[in-house]
Amino acid sequence: MKNIVILISGSGSNMAAIVKTAKREDWVARLGARVVTVISNRADAPGLQVAREIGLPTDVVDHKVYASREAFEAELAQRIARFDSAEYPALVVLAGFMRILTPGFVAQYAGRLVNIHPSLLPAFAGLNTHQRAIDAGCKLAGATVHRVTADLDHGEILAQAAVPVLPGDTAETLAARVLTQEHLIYPAAIASLLLKI
Ligand code: GRF
Repeated sequence: MKNIVILISGSGSNMAAIVKTAKREDWVARLGARVVTVISNRADAPGLQVAREIGLPTDVVDHKVYASREAFEAELAQRIARFDSAEYPALVVLAGFMRILTPGFVAQYAGRLVNIHPSLLPAFAGLNTHQRAIDAGCKLAGATVHRVTADLDHGEILAQAAVPVLPGDTAETLAARVLTQEHLIYPAAIASLLLKI
């Protein structure tokens, strides 16, 4: 069995989409995998309530409490370790998790740490992706599921989806269009990855 640990900071809609797909597609039987916990670095992340309503255990590791990035990550790794063993290795899924991770943390989960980024990487790594795509005059925008490496938003691309940028789009309208695709490609990419780890 593989344990899927989902890290969030915000609304958790990708997390919910992954959990819903895992149930619908019976990942336990088909892939030997289950979502075991949702961890947020923000106690007020609305996604925590969503996770509780789904019936998932939740946890908070508030980054502001720690003196350094390393100290925060050490605690985060401790919480993940509860679900990470030789028999039950954890796949760590970043779903709107808004903390940059150090190379040391990333190395700890090499091959089993993934992220979704709201742009067609390698275009628009970093923040404000939708506004930057609009400002650049892009006709297409989208989202990318990628492996997490020490180089921010630069790991191997596992899946992508494109949507049109429409006349009059704002960052919000474009983000909403991209998000509907995120909810499809992220669960699918995780399912594919589970077959390989
Ligand atoms: C998504 O757009 C994701 O690509 C980005 O942050 C957003 C998270 O949304 N990394 P949600 O919390 O999954 O609703």
